[in-house]
Amino acid sequence: MKQPKKIAMFGGSFNPIHNAHINLAAAFIKKLKLDKLLLIPTATPPHKSDSEMVSAEHRLNMCKLATEDIKKIDVSDIEIKREGKSYTVDTLKQLKEMYPESELYLITGADMFVTLLDWKDPEEIFSLATVCTVPRNDDDIEVLKEKEKQYNALGAKTVILDLKKSNISSSKIRKHIFNDESFSKFVDEKVEKYIYANYLFMDKSTINYDRFDKVLKARMSEKRYVHSFNVAVEAQKLAKKYGADVKKARLAGILHDITKETPGDEQLQIIENSGIILNDIESPSPKLWHAIAGAAFVRDVMGIDDEDVFNAIRYHTSGRANMSLLEKCVFIADFTGAERDYDGVEEMRELSEKSLEEAMAFGLSFSVADLAKRRLAIDPNSLACYNEVVLKTSKSYNKSK
Ligand SMILES: [Fe+2]
Ligand SMILES: [Fe+2]
Repeated sequence: MKQPKKIAMFGGSFNPIHNAHINLAAAFIKKLKLDKLLLIPTATPPHKSDSEMVSAEHRLNMCKLATEDIKKIDVSDIEIKREGKSYTVDTLKQLKEMYPESELYLITGADMFVTLLDWKDPEEIFSLATVCTVPRNDDDIEVLKEKEKQYNALGAKTVILDLKKSNISSSKIRKHIFNDESFSKFVDEKVEKYIYANYLFMDKSTINYDRFDKVLKARMSEKRYVHSFNVAVEAQKLAKKYGADVKKARLAGILHDITKETPGDEQLQIIENSGIILNDIESPSPKLWHAIAGAAFVRDVMGIDDEDVFNAIRYHTSGRANMSLLEKCVFIADFTGAERDYDGVEEMRELSEKSLEEAMAFGLSFSVADLAKRRLAIDPNSLACYNEVVLKTSKSYNKSK
């Protein structure tokens, strides 16, 4: 493989990566005529909480999304992969091994630049790479120049690039996100979408339907979004009629299919992260995963910890015996939302006006028969639910025949 002549490492937590990082990288690529710039996200320090610092995997993914169209920038996981605390000198040594022919540059923030002598093995850093920085504000240029002189006297090669000041910072962006304020002008569009899709940096203690809209739209097609919205409307209507909690019906309705368009392996990962173990029927039935993964995502990633909402999402496809009122409302709403137009939907809608159990018996008799016809396994929860509602409603059903 041809070695790049000039290569720079640009480390940071990138929590999240934003436009000023990209501008800085682009400016150094131009100024130093770099062949390659490596973005190297740091590993996650163990004491950082989730809302401050998201996982290394998320930060790495965001770096990749923000730079995938920039040819000279690559993202490296060498610090994330390394066990224990990463020192810059170790990363530089590793890069030297990987690129023995290349000239190395180290790009660092002004605050880090001034403390360089406190880093591990500063003189070795100086011997391995040219150290580059940009002033943070108008006041620190003099301080940086002072430091530069000191480092040069120790044999360091340095570059201070007087880049146009930026007032973007990751912490400012995190604050915007936490306060449900727009942050689209600070980050790449794909990064913004990723943040919503993965519910990063959000205030998990508040319910905000505008925010949920953005999360849903980042995770699903317009068609599925419309379906989710309709299920929420319908679930609320049923909840009001039958005395379930209307707010929870809206919440479970809008979020019930949140992982429906998530790839199967990611759904399984969400389920595993939540400590849920799939049974013998669920495990080989991908169609059943999204309800389980959805409930887990809503509870564990979005922080909406309500048992009834969890179960309404968890059992919205299969049903189960002894469903709560809320569970029933969401289960039926999934069949009767405004955009549904299958054969029998009108009868289902009429039944749902009369009795939740009648509507469930009607819906389940279809889905159980359909599964049997296609020789697919039937979730024991569905069978239990079917038996329960059929036994409860058989008298009135037979009378009407
Ligand atoms: Fe669903
Ligand atoms: Fe659905």
